[in-house]
Amino acid sequence: MDRSEPRTEVAALRQALNYHRHRYFVLDDPEIPDAEYDVLFDRLVELERSHPELVTPDSPTQRIGAAPSSQFNEVRHDTPMLSLDKCTSADELAAWEERCRRLLEVDDELSYFCEPKIDGIAVSLLYTDRVLVRAATRGDGETGEDITPNVRTIPEIPIELPADVPSPLEVRGEVYMPITGFLAFNRRAVASGERTIVNPRNGAAGSLRQLDPAVTAKRPLAMFCYSIGETPGGWQPRMHSEVMAALENWGLPINRRGRRQANLKGCAEYVDALLADRDSLNYAIDGAVIKVDDLGLRPRLGQVTRKPRWAIAYKYPSEEASTVLVDVDFQVGRTGAITPVAKLEPVFVGGVTVSNATLHNMDEVSRLDLRIGDTVLIHRAGDVIPQVMKVLESKRPEDARAILMPSECPVCGSAIVQEGDEVVARCSGGLRCRAQRKERLRHFASRHALDIEGLGDKLVDQLLAEDLVSGPADLYQLTVDQVAGLERMGVKSAENLLAALEASKRTTFARFIHALGIREVGETTAATLAREFKTLGALVAADEETLQEVEDVGPIVASRIASFFADETNRTLAFALHDEIGIAWEVVEEEPKTSPLDGQTWVLTGSLEAMTRNEAKAALVDLGARVASSVSKNTTVVVAGPGAGSKRTRAEELGIEIMDEPGFVQRLARLGKAAEDPDVA
Ligand code: IVH
Repeated sequence: MDRSEPRTEVAALRQALNYHRHRYFVLDDPEIPDAEYDVLFDRLVELERSHPELVTPDSPTQRIGAAPSSQFNEVRHDTPMLSLDKCTSADELAAWEERCRRLLEVDDELSYFCEPKIDGIAVSLLYTDRVLVRAATRGDGETGEDITPNVRTIPEIPIELPADVPSPLEVRGEVYMPITGFLAFNRRAVASGERTIVNPRNGAAGSLRQLDPAVTAKRPLAMFCYSIGETPGGWQPRMHSEVMAALENWGLPINRRGRRQANLKGCAEYVDALLADRDSLNYAIDGAVIKVDDLGLRPRLGQVTRKPRWAIAYKYPSEEASTVLVDVDFQVGRTGAITPVAKLEPVFVGGVTVSNATLHNMDEVSRLDLRIGDTVLIHRAGDVIPQVMKVLESKRPEDARAILMPSECPVCGSAIVQEGDEVVARCSGGLRCRAQRKERLRHFASRHALDIEGLGDKLVDQLLAEDLVSGPADLYQLTVDQVAGLERMGVKSAENLLAALEASKRTTFARFIHALGIREVGETTAATLAREFKTLGALVAADEETLQEVEDVGPIVASRIASFFADETNRTLAFALHDEIGIAWEVVEEEPKTSPLDGQTWVLTGSLEAMTRNEAKAALVDLGARVASSVSKNTTVVVAGPGAGSKRTRAEELGIEIMDEPGFVQRLARLGKAAEDPDVA
């Protein structure tokens, strides 16, 4: 863009902004993240400020939203639907209050009402004689679209209000798509090969603007009301907090996190606390809204360019950004699973700089139609691994390259194979593959396995690089001299490591089994096997049939265990560790005690869409839960997917918590368990 000539730059910015507004508001298919749009917009504001002669009435800065699309009838808003000024730091927030106080000529502290800024679609609901007669989008703030039939399908929006509600009443708020509903929608879309939704806000926008309300009715939508239009006659609320309380009393959905704050310090604390909770909410937020609580002060503060001075949006770091896919790496996991990993041009998103994102598997790569060189939209929320949401096709360069699964392991050169109808491809090199050896060692030493203190990822890398070890047994042959000679290690840390190795020899049989790294054998299965078989000899000797008699061991797990011990290298290693190196355990086994779901019993029923049942089970087991096949009074949670029948009914009878798959996925994510990790044992 030519930045030397303001007129040219203004024209280019307007053209770009109009194009993106159309994609965002009318097509519900934005091509750039909000933050990028904001940069263009802010630049235009800046130029128009320094060159007022360039301002035109049709400039994007003079409008809110977009003109309504012709598919819907127009609705004129008697009181315009405004937009909000924004700030991004405590200093800017303080400057905003300073301006309010100056305009009001007050020295006293002002009180405020703070609310989450919901990332959805602003909607106006008109109740005449307490009946919902009209619902409209914001549109350009003056004129919106009539979406009454669609809004009527949203379950929590009352069609009729109680007898004491004044009339007419216009209620405003944000219609949003709950995150669980958004995830479930996308999983179904992936399964049926339909278009996915990029984010919950687009989900809400697209769902509300359906021409057939029956389609809207199938979408998970909800609403938070946050204001009223013209105050109905006879009602004289003095504070915004009073309005909110009234809305709630009248059965309208409001966000329960709204709080009155006696001063700005309270607002700043609210902003921080809400940000800290952002990931635990079932709705997307992009900030907090701070409103002067006293309604009497609002007219005195007035508005500038459709933004009231009495409210401000405190924006949080965007969780979305676009960047370029520079390359794709293929990582090899402990069991050989090959995961494509996106190498990105570093980009700041969700509060951190991201340069990698998981692509899960090749099915995902083809679903996204991803190519190297593509500009992609990425999403990162909380601790969840960054995800590639979408390819921005208009930005695809001509030389974009296809992503191909290598036929050979990038680490050891063995063939990459795909078993049956498994989505995951694996390196067939087993322990000949250095990557698998490394992951196996890491697993062996990890907290829930032999818990070898001080043997972290870096040290494992160094030990392998220096050829000091190749498998778990070698760890116990290490000498102080060898370890002390490694970079960043000294005699003291070497001695500590050897002491930790020595200490790891006193363990439990369950931990020992888990440490061996048998596929599908997580902590709980290991504990069950330990209880059942008591000795290594007995476990190794058990055939598939015997193994299947054990609680929770099905044919797949049984065959994994049997084939693990059928492999001579594995068998020799297990016996060497026990008999020669002296890793030993008491016969009485305890349950592992440090996992988040310890002591809980989960039941999976119905079909799962985001993951296989084995993956779900493995994830639960890794978190310490026991996975049972039937529901009893001892069951903690039942995960019920579509088609769940008697187990669900039984859980309902017993009053046991029932969770749908999106809820389950969220719980796993919150517990730090990437549900799709194909290497979860
Ligand atoms: S108050 C003048 N409160 O943010 C007051 N708006 O950028 C404007 N929004 O159009 C509305 N959560 O779509 C308000 N708690 C909240 C909100 C909220 C989300 C949206 C709304 C508005 C936009 C302004």
